[in-house]
Amino acid sequence: MGGRRRLPATGCRAIAEPALLPYVYRLAPPTGHYELAALEFQALTGADAPAALPWDRQEDHNDVPRFARAGAGVDVARSAYIAECVHVLTEADTLDEMLAATGRLGLRRERFRIRVHKSGYEAPVSSNEIARTIADLIDGAPDLSRPVTEFVVFGSPRRWLLGESVSRGLNAWHGHEQRPFQYSSALPPRVARAMVNLVALPGDRLIDPCCGVATVLVEAAEMGVEPFGWEINRPVAEHAAANLCHHTQQAWLTIGDGRDARGRWDGAVLDLPYGHAAVRVQSECLELVEHALKVAPLAAIVTVDDLRDFLEGLGAAVLGVAELPKNNLVRRVHWVRSPL
Ligand SMILES: C[S@@+](CC[C@H](N)C(=O)[O-])C[C@H]1O[C@@H](n2cnc3c(N)ncnc32)[C@H](O)[C@@H]1O
Repeated sequence: MGGRRRLPATGCRAIAEPALLPYVYRLAPPTGHYELAALEFQALTGADAPAALPWDRQEDHNDVPRFARAGAGVDVARSAYIAECVHVLTEADTLDEMLAATGRLGLRRERFRIRVHKSGYEAPVSSNEIARTIADLIDGAPDLSRPVTEFVVFGSPRRWLLGESVSRGLNAWHGHEQRPFQYSSALPPRVARAMVNLVALPGDRLIDPCCGVATVLVEAAEMGVEPFGWEINRPVAEHAAANLCHHTQQAWLTIGDGRDARGRWDGAVLDLPYGHAAVRVQSECLELVEHALKVAPLAAIVTVDDLRDFLEGLGAAVLGVAELPKNNLVRRVHWVRSPL
């Protein structure tokens, strides 16, 4: 498994100037989810955390990067937050320069379509006009309804880019939001999906030691990850089984204590019970964390507490922490490499 996975080493430096990296990703997290989206981007592409690029809105200082560059082009169909991966064909400081460079590429494609994103920027030329000009530079016939190739233009006052769409997010999590059993303590399917993507690839085996109503298990199974769930509360476990059935997904489900799980998994997603202040419950949570790190090399752990000190005390490497606001509290997703 180790050879297939690209993981950023903690504290690693960029291996190339971001401007030279040949893939641009478009991120589409809702408000409050940006930090988790950035971690998911790092896990899927092996790149550093996104930094602001020219296509991000300049006028909104509170806005977060919506574009990110990476050296690798990956399939983002299963992503929770990445809308698209684009392979850069050419880019320039002005629209005219970009069009001239496009002409020099000698592109030849049958059945293509051109999409223009201007990120809220009012360019002097309309999107339709830009698309028509580029279409005239390509040898081949456009097909707007069933294209084989999709060209993408990103425009901004400072930079113009033409690329070819490699893959787009399918938003499968969206179809899982309606389910027979929904608890207020359950994770949103989109968050659960991103957490699975932090620790597992399709074909991997994943453990969720506190699986509740199977939100994580459903997302994992839909992505081709083999999920194993533990749930201590029998009625909740029965609801988990009903939710899996409803979405026609399969998982190994055990009614029991997640600390008793024996075996070895590729990744763990752990959504700790919260809302209980009792010391006994807190120590049980920490035991669940310790146990997860013994049975899996990578873990995504969500809780209201900041576990960094505890995790580092165990010898684990904290690859990143993402804050997620939920009503009047903040949940933290810890992305961790186990010391084993
Ligand atoms: C925050 S909820 C998990 C919600 C789940 N991620 C979902 O989306 O449905 C925590 C769950 O852990 C279960 N739990 C608590 N202690 C446990 C233990 N030691 N082993 C297994 N499950 C446990 C609780 O019954 C509860 O359903």
